[in-house]
Amino acid sequence: MSPELAALHAKARAALDPVHYDYYAGGAGEERALAENEAAFGRLALLPRVLRGDAARDLAVELPGGRPALPVLLAPTAFHRLAHPDGEAATARAAAAAGTVLVTGMASTVAVGEVTAAARAVDADAAVWFQLYLQPEEEVTACLVRRAERAGCTALVVTVDSPVFGRHRRDADHGFHELPAGLAAENMRGLPGGPPGGTRPIAMSPTISWGHLDRLREVTSLPVWLKGVLHPADARAAVARGVDGIVVSNHGGRQSDLAPAALDALPAVVAEVAGRVPVVLDGGVRRGGDVAVALALGAAAVGVGRPVLWGLAADGEAGVARVLAVLRDEFDHVLALCGGRGPADLTPDLVVPRGGCERCDG
Ligand code: FNR
Repeated sequence: MSPELAALHAKARAALDPVHYDYYAGGAGEERALAENEAAFGRLALLPRVLRGDAARDLAVELPGGRPALPVLLAPTAFHRLAHPDGEAATARAAAAAGTVLVTGMASTVAVGEVTAAARAVDADAAVWFQLYLQPEEEVTACLVRRAERAGCTALVVTVDSPVFGRHRRDADHGFHELPAGLAAENMRGLPGGPPGGTRPIAMSPTISWGHLDRLREVTSLPVWLKGVLHPADARAAVARGVDGIVVSNHGGRQSDLAPAALDALPAVVAEVAGRVPVVLDGGVRRGGDVAVALALGAAAVGVGRPVLWGLAADGEAGVARVLAVLRDEFDHVLALCGGRGPADLTPDLVVPRGGCERCDG
């Protein structure tokens, strides 16, 4: 991990209630998928290119739903008010100031309308996307989509890797199953079938199917990303059904502990999609160099989950801003060392295994 991010992590760990720290840091099962995400970046190196540089670099990328000034999005993570009293509003301000996209979670502790308002107070054109778990009752999903649209979100990110809740041993050991008094999943308040004035629980359901996704397209004209795709056949099906983008992710190791590192699954998905829609990668991005490796392997951008939470817990909005500034600066530096002018100059031929070139062995 980048030393500055490691320092923020240490500060966050000291500041957080240990139960909440473990909720953020932990993964499913034996946390093998969690560990693999970071380990996968450690296995790859990036070849510099020489004598082709330019002093002017432009880090921006064009995506359905926004044009982030750097190819680093804030991945959707739940319950930011466990980290800081301003919660998702602070995260939104920092993302907007950095010119990048916040994917705000359906399980946010600040209602989506307040999240977008916080972002727009910093930058009237700030892009906020809404992460959605399709609910088995489709009128509930439609209601959430309308809330996101009214709030001015510019894309939906539908998380499809959670037919059931992941099993988080750390939470079970702590008996952490409920938010502390005063905090709630605010987007779930006042939904059809929910308790009057209260919040409806977020449902995970193995009955969610491609049909639900088709019907979602009928109730919204926003771009739809599919998050949590690892198998190329699922990527192919998603493209065939007209999704606007794919997020290759193992949910930060919080769902299937048998899942491979997101980075290891990326090349096959990129090959299958063949440029028809952009592919974003999340999981294990801990330095600007990781952003460069993911882009070289075909990602259009990356999502960052836990480091944002560490910044928020360590220092609120300023902490998140620092995380984004560090990643931006490191990525820009690596790009310069590769003689690149922009993300498009990062190509697969730059990526080689660390610890020896396979072609040279034997
Ligand atoms: C998540 N993630 C997640 N994803 C999602 O689609 N909906 C959600 O509500 C959450 N909640 C959530 C909470 C916490 C505490 C974490 C750490 C993660 C997954 C997230 O979007 C992303 O896939 C991973 O966090 C990426 O991995 P890194 O960057 O944390 O390694």
